[in-house]
Amino acid sequence: MRLVNIGICGLGTVGAGVFNVLGRNSQQINSRANCDLVIAQLGARRDNPDCNTADTNVTRDIFEVAKNPNIDIVVELIGGTDVAYELVMTALDNGKHVVTANKALIAQHGMEIFAAAEARGLMVAYEAAVAGGIPIIKALREGLSGNRINWLAGIINGTTNFILSEMDSKGREFADVLTEAQEKGYAEADPTFDVEGIDAAHKLVIMTSLAFGMPLSLDGIFTDGITRLEPQDVSYARELGYAVKHLGITRQTDQGVELRVHPTLVPETCLIAGVNDVSNAVMVNADAVGTTLFYGPGAGSEPTASSVIADIVDVARAMNADADTWVPALGCQSSALQPQKIMDIQDIETSFYIRFSALDQPGVLSDITGIMANAGISIEAIIQKEQPVGEDYVNVIILTNVTKERLLDAAVENIEQLETVRGSVTFIRVEHLDQ
Ligand SMILES: NC(=O)c1ccc[n+]([C@@H]2O[C@H](COP(=O)([O-])OP(=O)(O)OC[C@H]3O[C@@H](n4cnc5c(N)ncnc54)[C@H](OP(=O)(O)O)[C@@H]3O)[C@@H](O)[C@H]2O)c1
Repeated sequence: MRLVNIGICGLGTVGAGVFNVLGRNSQQINSRANCDLVIAQLGARRDNPDCNTADTNVTRDIFEVAKNPNIDIVVELIGGTDVAYELVMTALDNGKHVVTANKALIAQHGMEIFAAAEARGLMVAYEAAVAGGIPIIKALREGLSGNRINWLAGIINGTTNFILSEMDSKGREFADVLTEAQEKGYAEADPTFDVEGIDAAHKLVIMTSLAFGMPLSLDGIFTDGITRLEPQDVSYARELGYAVKHLGITRQTDQGVELRVHPTLVPETCLIAGVNDVSNAVMVNADAVGTTLFYGPGAGSEPTASSVIADIVDVARAMNADADTWVPALGCQSSALQPQKIMDIQDIETSFYIRFSALDQPGVLSDITGIMANAGISIEAIIQKEQPVGEDYVNVIILTNVTKERLLDAAVENIEQLETVRGSVTFIRVEHLDQ
């Protein structure tokens, strides 16, 4: 059989998974790729006790792999955007196809990388960059290619989903669960990328490009994390029949494309509301197929390796075929990609959950409903919680019908100015995720 030489750069969590699964399932993988896939060289700064590389050519210099004349496919698994960018460009300059799991790299430098690959007649594959083991890139790019995609919404960061699941099921505080997530290895020592929504933003931008045929760009994306979320809101949401999920949402509208990452109330009856712990899920709504849900492990050594290896198989199969038959990185030729207006978050229309603390006295609620009515916002439900012993203030929770965020903001400002309302108003967007 034809021999295809692979060079793996980075032997951390994912690198070790790829090494081990390629070794364990080599017979099936080779027959699917219709070639003999061989790890010709590994670039690793140090050994990883999770894999036995004794019989493999290991170099401490990852750039040696990118320049090795025997290697056909370079697999970038070091993470980050500086050295990884240089590594990928060096690999392309040296005529190698590239497979990467790096969402930050693709979201930030994807257009440049794909253009460099196209100019050199090479492939860049990145299935593992979004939702780990779930083959969502292939689904959006190939499986749904007959559709006009309307919207997609995904739980695309396992760390935040784990934290929210714990806050929900056990009423725990954000900071307390974050510490446990770090101890369990779900969250990085610096969790900013996860808990502030940056990692999810990278993944959402990639899916948006595929869904709507747009160039990759982080410009205009609205990003909010889960750090300010309070257990009482997760608990009140449950009482109202909703789960709080950290969603990446993109939607094609007449006013442009919605592109936003934020905590969201979703009805308990919606399948995605039941996706807990470190799992990921992406709901895609499209004109022909309707709504589909892709669910599974969004991270982890072997789940992520599963996607990396699928890319290696695709590239190895396609290497011998005419480049015209290759599936383009973003689903269509780069010349066919069309930039679109990204909507300002203030122009987005959705429902809202609102909570504030108000004096428990006659007339207060009518002041508030008056403010909402003046802003043109209709109320779906209003709940006044029981007055805690010795407290003059009570929590009031409002669920609105669909309204423009700009109107909601103005109403919130007016509510905060009422003398009968204490502190600031908390609001969380609500999505029903129906057709
Ligand atoms: N972990 C997941 O579940 C997951 C899921 C989907 C996608 N990804 C993506 O996969 C990529 C790898 O993630 P990971 O979790 O495997 O990270 P990791 O465990 O930190 O592994 C990265 C490895 O690359 C090595 N490395 C970094 N810079 C290097 C350099 N200049 N020369 C040689 N080695 C270098 C690191 O070596 P040292 O240990 O010496 O620093 C480490 O062994 C990232 O882009 C990540 O976003 C990860």
